[in-house]
Amino acid sequence: MARRPLVMGNWKLNGSKAFTKELIEGLKAELANVNGCDVAIAPPVMYLAEAETALAGSKIVLGAQNVDVNVKGAFTGDISTEMLKDFGAKYIIIGHSERRTYHKESDEFIAKKFAALKEAGLVPVLCIGESEAENEAGKTEEVCARQIDAVINALGVEAFNGAVIAYEPIWAIGTGKSATPAQAQAVHAFIRGHIAAKSQVVADQVIIQYGGSVNDANAAELFTQPDIDGALVGGASLKAPAFAVIVKAAAAAKN
Ligand code: 13P
Repeated sequence: MARRPLVMGNWKLNGSKAFTKELIEGLKAELANVNGCDVAIAPPVMYLAEAETALAGSKIVLGAQNVDVNVKGAFTGDISTEMLKDFGAKYIIIGHSERRTYHKESDEFIAKKFAALKEAGLVPVLCIGESEAENEAGKTEEVCARQIDAVINALGVEAFNGAVIAYEPIWAIGTGKSATPAQAQAVHAFIRGHIAAKSQVVADQVIIQYGGSVNDANAAELFTQPDIDGALVGGASLKAPAFAVIVKAAAAAKN
């Protein structure tokens, strides 16, 4: 089954009102004639209003970097699914390694966020991936399986219908040291196979992005791999020309 690729920019803790407008104007110009690839950006939630306005009339879809499990009430500092929907955000990143590490988010807590997003009709972008030590200890598959199983155990494999997984080896994030296409493909094939063991139909349609030092120079080769359905891009998503090269590479490789 042909899967439509998805390239998403995770801006992390970067930007300003002016930067948001400027980057989106640049992306709209660069990507005006690109088809065959879904494109999303996740600015800081502070700038969703500016982003929504700037994106009007474009095919670039709005996303966010996190969400709370609660919908309303006394939860100081949190942002709900309904608030994200209010700004037209669709693709919501959860379980990013930076949140797992700095905010001590557990697999089970992240599964609750996954449930909240499904309940709200939003698309979870579930980040998974092993640390350098786990990689060297040969535990990559075990870690990825555990992180996926937390969702399957809580919600069933069908929860991955219409969802996105981003395989982001922690050792590749922000280091300039991307996984090689073959390394990434091997893990992506494992992830898809792990889901296929429960449901081939769900496995065939789930988008599995690669993330970790994806840039305009290495994206095309990564996208030649059959189980790499796009990318979750950090640093290179902050520059319109570089991000556009990555999107165009996905559109070219997958169509
Ligand atoms: P970099 O592309 O900066 O390595 O970040 C990847 C990432 O964490 C995207 O979520």
